[in-house]
Amino acid sequence: TGSKPQKEGKEPPGPKPLPLLGNLLTLDLTRAFDTFFELSKTYGNIFQVSLGPKKTVVLVGYKTVKEALVNQAEEFGERDIGHSFRIMNDEHGIVFSNGENWKEMRRFALSNLRDFGMGKRGSEEKIIEEIQYLKGEFDKFEGKPFDTTQPVNYAVSNIISSIVYGSRFEYTDPQFTEMVDRANENVRVSGSTSMMLYNIFPWLGPFLKNKKIILHNILQNRQQMMNLINGLLDTLNPHDRRGFVDSFLIRKQSEEKSGKKDSYFHQENLMISVANLFVAGTDTTGTTLRWGLMLMAKYPHIQDRVHEEIDRVIGGRQPVVEDRKKLPYTDAVIHETQRLANIVPLSLPHVTSCDVTFNGYFIKKGTTVIPLLMSVLKDPSEWEKPNSFYPEHFLDEKGQFVKRDAFMPFSAGRRVCLGESLARMELFLFFTSLLQSYRFTTPPGVSGDELDLKGVVGITLNPSPHKLCAIRRS
Ligand code: HEM
Repeated sequence: TGSKPQKEGKEPPGPKPLPLLGNLLTLDLTRAFDTFFELSKTYGNIFQVSLGPKKTVVLVGYKTVKEALVNQAEEFGERDIGHSFRIMNDEHGIVFSNGENWKEMRRFALSNLRDFGMGKRGSEEKIIEEIQYLKGEFDKFEGKPFDTTQPVNYAVSNIISSIVYGSRFEYTDPQFTEMVDRANENVRVSGSTSMMLYNIFPWLGPFLKNKKIILHNILQNRQQMMNLINGLLDTLNPHDRRGFVDSFLIRKQSEEKSGKKDSYFHQENLMISVANLFVAGTDTTGTTLRWGLMLMAKYPHIQDRVHEEIDRVIGGRQPVVEDRKKLPYTDAVIHETQRLANIVPLSLPHVTSCDVTFNGYFIKKGTTVIPLLMSVLKDPSEWEKPNSFYPEHFLDEKGQFVKRDAFMPFSAGRRVCLGESLARMELFLFFTSLLQSYRFTTPPGVSGDELDLKGVVGITLNPSPHKLCAIRRS
C-alpha cells in the first residue's frame, strides 16, 4: 500500500457500466447500502460502480474502511460535495467544505463545543435538565400509545441549541419546533432516490419536487436563524459569551477591526456552521435514541435486565455520566443499539484528494469514495451475530463492558464525527434516565414482531413509523 501519487495502475473491479447510465439500472438506490453490501460478495472489499458517468469507489468491511480513513487519512479525508449538498451549503461551514475553510471551521467548532460543555459538567447539567422536560411530555400520554419522534427530537435539539445559541426553547415555541421539523425533513429527503439522481444528473433539478422541498426548508430555516443570530448580536457582551454564535460574532468583529484579509469568520460561514451543528446534532442522536426505545419494546427480556441493573446500581436518584462504568449491561445495550441501528449506513461521501494506490488498486484524484459504515457495523468477520440485537457483543464472560474495534458508527479519521463525545453523553443520560422511569411497550394488541428493523431511508436510517407506550415504573 503506497500513499504517494503514482502512475496509473489497475482500477478496482466492479460491474460493467453502460454508456451514460453506468450501473444505474442494476443498482437499487432506495437501499443503496444493501445493494453495495451484496455487490461486495462478488467484487470484494474495494469495488467501483458508475453512477451515471461518475465513478464511485465503495470500501467494505472494518479492515478496508479503517485502512483508508485512518492509515491513509489525508488521501481519503476530503468531502465529496455533490449538487444536493452544494445547494444547502455552498462549500462553507463544517460538514460540506474542504481545505482551509473546513480546517478553520472544524477547529473553531470543536474548541467551542469543549468550552460550552462537551465532555464537561456544563453539558451534563443541560442534558439532565432537558430530560425532566422530556419526561413531562411522555407523562402527558399517561401510558397510552404515541409517536416518540417529535418529543425526542425537540429534547435532543435543545442540547445543541443551548450550546450554539446559549439557551433552550420551549416545545410549544413554533419557531423552534418548525425549525427542527424542517431540518429533519431535509435529512430524510436528501437521501431520497431523486436527490441521488440529481447528484448524477443536475439538469434534473427543475423537475424535482424534493429539491423544491429542500430549498424551501433552507430558506425558512435561514430566516429563522438570522432572527436568532441578530437577537444575540444586539445583546452581545464580549465578557459573557453565551454560546457558539457569540464566540463566532466576537471573532468576526475582532478580525474585521484588525482589517484581516480573507478572514473565514464571515456571515456565510456563521450561518452554515450553525445550520450544520443544528442538523447534525439533532437528527442523528434523536434517531438513535428512538431506535433504542423501540428495541426495548421489541425485546422486553433485554429491557428487564436494563431495569434490573439500573435499579440495583442507581436506585431512584438521577443517573450521571460517572455511572456509566458501573452499568456495563446498559452501556452494552446502548452500543449494540448504535451498531444494529446503523443510522448513517453510507457515512457521508468522501473524495480522493490526490491519485491514490490503495491495496494494489489505482484510484484517481477526485473519485467519490463511500466508506460503507454499515459493512463495518455488520462485518461478519468482526461480529458474532451481525444481524441480531445481541448486547453480549460488548460484554466479556464476566459481564464487564468490552470495547470493540469495529464499533465505528461515528466513522473514523480526519472527518470523524465532530460531536461524538457529546452524542455519547446524550445517549447515555437520556437512555438511562428514561429506562429508570419507564417501561416501554408496544401498544396493546401489537406484537413486538410488528416493530421492524429495516427502517426508513434518508441520509440517516430512521425507525419505521410506530407508536410506543411509556408506562411509569413507580
Ligand atoms: C459527521 C455520525 C452526532 C456533528 C458525522 C459522520 C458520521 C456521524 C457517520 C460522517 C463522518 C465522515 O465523513 O466519515 C454521528 C452519529 C451521531 C452524531 C451516529 C449520534 C449518535 C453528532 C452531534 C453533532 C455532530 C451531536 C454535533 C455537535 C457532526 C459534524 C460532522 C459530523 C459537524 C462533520 C465532520 C466533518 O466533515 O469534518 N457524524 N454523528 N454529530 N457530525 Fe456527527
